[in-house]
Amino acid sequence: MAIVESESEIQVQAGAPNEAGYRSFTLGEFSFSRDDYFVYLQWPTGSHVLSADTFLKALQRDVAWDFFYGIVNFDGVLGTVNHYGTVDLFAGRYNDAYRKAELDHVENFPTELIRATFKRMLGDWTVEGFDPFASPDETGSAFGPKRGDNTAAVTRRRVTAKRMVGLPEDEPLRSDESGFPVNRHFVDVVQDEPEVHAEPGFEDQVNAFNLFKYLSRSDVTWNPSVVSVCKDSLYCPTTEEYILPIIHGNDRVEWFVQLSDVIHWTVEDRDSGAMRARVVMRPGDVAAMPADIRHQGYAPKRSMLLVWENAAGDLPELIASGKLPTNPVEF
Ligand code: PHB
Ligand code: FE
Repeated sequence: MAIVESESEIQVQAGAPNEAGYRSFTLGEFSFSRDDYFVYLQWPTGSHVLSADTFLKALQRDVAWDFFYGIVNFDGVLGTVNHYGTVDLFAGRYNDAYRKAELDHVENFPTELIRATFKRMLGDWTVEGFDPFASPDETGSAFGPKRGDNTAAVTRRRVTAKRMVGLPEDEPLRSDESGFPVNRHFVDVVQDEPEVHAEPGFEDQVNAFNLFKYLSRSDVTWNPSVVSVCKDSLYCPTTEEYILPIIHGNDRVEWFVQLSDVIHWTVEDRDSGAMRARVVMRPGDVAAMPADIRHQGYAPKRSMLLVWENAAGDLPELIASGKLPTNPVEF
């Protein structure tokens, strides 16, 4: 196994290109390889295969979100757990059958190492014309032998406002001119902006923008971006189409506000994968996803969803130790 890349002292273990033109990667006792259609995973007690497009769409989000909150399941077998400084890479750990057969495997890595490895893998395995963040109808094929790359797409900067989109020195609004045309499913969305009349001296403290216009111009799917911040309270709206490419295992409660169209959610027990609920959300519906579940969304048409996150660093521990409940409300 040759070491071909190093990213600021971090050594990524990558092999030479195979027949299909793709490198293999090793991380601890896990190894990853891909061919025209599939990604193959091996660990000391087992092996797994996933479709290359499923894998790349999940990998893209794990990288762009820096391992997100809690668990990112790529499917029912493979995934990561964020410990905010280190990350577990697991196979079968949150799968009852693998656990009972004692075939599951978990390894913990410094975030820098798994981040650098995942970035290299995403860069090498994403071919020209395929954008893992785009809806299936708006991008090319992930399949076939290695042809070119799509660095612009896979290194796209995530929107994370410091205070609010549209404020001076913060994330800009979107327009035709800045390369964000209205999406084909949102041509009916009104494109005006609110008028703001601030008292003299308060001009940089009062702000408003048209969130529907902003979202109608998103070029990606299933990618919550931070548009406003109040201490640990983050508004992370996103536009959705087709299937959320990860199954998210929560380490805290998340609130969803359905802003337009429809999303179907499957909700399972976070640890065993046992089915807990189906939730169908229509415009105006609000849901609080408990801290002990995992969920995956299905959007038949592009839709707007507000994900409301509480970024407080002590929440996972307070919930895991039972000091806080897994549900935010009792009815
Ligand atoms: C979630 O896991 O809560 C989630 C992730 C991405 C989205 C929406 C929701 O686009
Ligand atoms: Fe979630």
